[in-house]
Amino acid sequence: MGSSRWINCCAWRGSEASSTMRLFLFMVPLLVLAGFASIKGSTVYNGRDFIAKRYASWSSLITPSNSSSQTLLDPPSNSSLQTLHQSNETEVFNVSKPGFNLAPANESDESHPRQKRKRKFSFLDKTEAVLAQARAAIREAENWNQTQDSDYVPVGPMYWNPKEFHRSYLEMEKQFKVFVYEEGELPVFHEGPCASIYSTEGSFIHAIEMNEHFRTRDPKKAHVFFLPFSVVMMVRYVYIRDSHDFGPIKRTVRDYINVIAARYPYWNRSLGADHFMLSCHDWGPEASKFSPYLRKNSIRVLCNANTSEGFDPRKDVSFPEINLQRGPIDGLLGGPSASQRSILAFFAGGIHGPIRPILLEHWEKKDEDIQVHQYLPKGVSYYGMLRKSKFCLCPSGYEVASPRVVEAIYTGCVPVLISDHYVPPFSDVLNWKMFSVEVSMKEIPNLKDILMNISPRKYIRMQKRVRQIRRHFEVHSPPKRYDVFHMILHSVWLRRLNFRVLDDQ
Ligand SMILES: *[C@@H]1O[C@H](CO)[C@@H](O)[C@H](O)[C@H]1NC(C)=O
Ligand SMILES: *[C@@H]1O[C@H](CO)[C@@H](O)[C@H](O)[C@H]1NC(C)=O
Ligand SMILES: *[C@@H]1O[C@H](CO)[C@@H](O)[C@H](O)[C@H]1NC(C)=O
Ligand SMILES: *[C@@H]1O[C@H](CO)[C@@H](O)[C@H](O)[C@H]1NC(C)=O
Ligand SMILES: *[C@@H]1O[C@H](CO)[C@@H](O)[C@H](O)[C@H]1NC(C)=O
Ligand SMILES: *[C@@H]1O[C@H](CO)[C@@H](O)[C@H](O)[C@H]1NC(C)=O
Ligand SMILES: *[C@@H]1O[C@H](CO)[C@@H](O)[C@H](O)[C@H]1NC(C)=O
Ligand SMILES: *[C@@H]1O[C@H](CO)[C@@H](O)[C@H](O)[C@H]1NC(C)=O
Repeated sequence: MGSSRWINCCAWRGSEASSTMRLFLFMVPLLVLAGFASIKGSTVYNGRDFIAKRYASWSSLITPSNSSSQTLLDPPSNSSLQTLHQSNETEVFNVSKPGFNLAPANESDESHPRQKRKRKFSFLDKTEAVLAQARAAIREAENWNQTQDSDYVPVGPMYWNPKEFHRSYLEMEKQFKVFVYEEGELPVFHEGPCASIYSTEGSFIHAIEMNEHFRTRDPKKAHVFFLPFSVVMMVRYVYIRDSHDFGPIKRTVRDYINVIAARYPYWNRSLGADHFMLSCHDWGPEASKFSPYLRKNSIRVLCNANTSEGFDPRKDVSFPEINLQRGPIDGLLGGPSASQRSILAFFAGGIHGPIRPILLEHWEKKDEDIQVHQYLPKGVSYYGMLRKSKFCLCPSGYEVASPRVVEAIYTGCVPVLISDHYVPPFSDVLNWKMFSVEVSMKEIPNLKDILMNISPRKYIRMQKRVRQIRRHFEVHSPPKRYDVFHMILHSVWLRRLNFRVLDDQ
């Protein structure tokens, strides 16, 4: 459950938190419940059903047949996006609700276009219009010349569609606004670990809390709403050690949602669809289990992206596990070229989860080329081995994600994902087949053949791409463009572009 070393994302917060932690341990549930009780009953719930309509099929987004023609967005459903395209800002609203506004305008409407114009549009109408324009821009990316950009221009087969990604990313930078709920107290809310294997949870929470560009303090201007709780922190402060009872965690999340649903109109408006949670902990998916709308409707950003456990790539986001001992990534990046890598494949790690026992059974001490260890011999450096190996094996452990994927990417080693039911990070944008090898549990006995069959030329291409996509996995404080923080945000943005929320007025 993470390392014993505990580093908070920033010192000023850390010191504040430590002095009050014990107090909060007891106060959090009380505060949450008190907030709930005092507001409950003040508004009448209108019993409306799910009003955020998702566009047609997402399947092409994750497992596209042809990368060149791959589009990041869902295929347009005629009744909605067609109309969005053709209209302009003042006319794009409430077109997508099924059977809602699809009837042809009646003559008397037609004869008073001015009157129609004058209708006052809500804030939601305006934010939806921004999204509609972004959709249109992304769809037209094919005919768009990628602008020069001194930071980065995404090109190459590592992207399903580099132009769409580029355009979508720029639109995100221009438009995207995230509201972070201020409710909830430290240390369980607004903070997470920035070191340990769950570091990406804390660093995202920290980065979005501190962000001036994407964060808006005005919920009316937001496209998405962030629920700033940390499951890693709950495991430390809410979960009862060794109890195997996730109840307290699930209740904390449920109570929190009850509070924000009572205090603001936004949760009920979309039944959670434009809200997102984020967790890198193995139990991240568990945390959503007492909150049906959170599980079914909200965007869940998870490291543990196991499709057999309800991870739905159409609405959820997979993000990477990055094992940072101290926080900064300095010194972890870079490694030699292919010719200086003498070991074919390398793995070292404990036998846990369903896949590793099979890997060790087949390959531990069996073959010089496939270096599979439970424990590295004394004096052998783990990072040194990553840099000496052509391929780095990344088998799932207790859960599908493995910090080894990013370790491999950092050190220029081509990752071999050995997992089942795993959706790799950012696979809405990245075509993993171009820079990694995917091996299922069944194929473990053939591992060596699979790797030997990759020609040196192909290997060199893959390794070059690993270096190119590395920036998307780098952690920076403050964040840099196209780094892991921005990629997570972009995946959320992409999910949000694929549906619209309607006013019930
Ligand atoms: C994908 O591309 C291949 C050739 O690269 C072509 O034969 C196939 O028809 C394409 N499939 C689709 C769905 O476009
Ligand atoms: C969608 O619209 C296009 C052009 O407007 C039309 O050709 C096509 O038949 C429509 N598809 C459906 C399913 O309505
Ligand atoms: C909106 O539509 C009107 C008339 O259809 C057109 O004159 C105007 O240029 C459009 N505005 C934008 C921003 O596309
Ligand atoms: C949206 O729907 C409402 C209710 O049916 C209608 O009054 C309004 O004119 C519609 N807006 C547009 C832009 O069509
Ligand atoms: C057109 O609108 C008028 C009033 O706005 C309404 O009385 C009439 O029934 C409508 N006609 C149709 C065909 O919907
Ligand atoms: C894109 O670039 C090409 C060649 O440089 C040019 O011919 C074309 O007009 C440009 N397209 C746009 C939309 O700017
Ligand atoms: C949202 O719905 C819940 C549950 O039905 C209700 O208790 C709450 O008051 C509603 N919130 C608002 C702001 O109307
Ligand atoms: C993924 O979920 C399935 C179903 O719960 C489970 O059997 C499997 O072990 C999980 N994978 C990992 C690596 O935990």
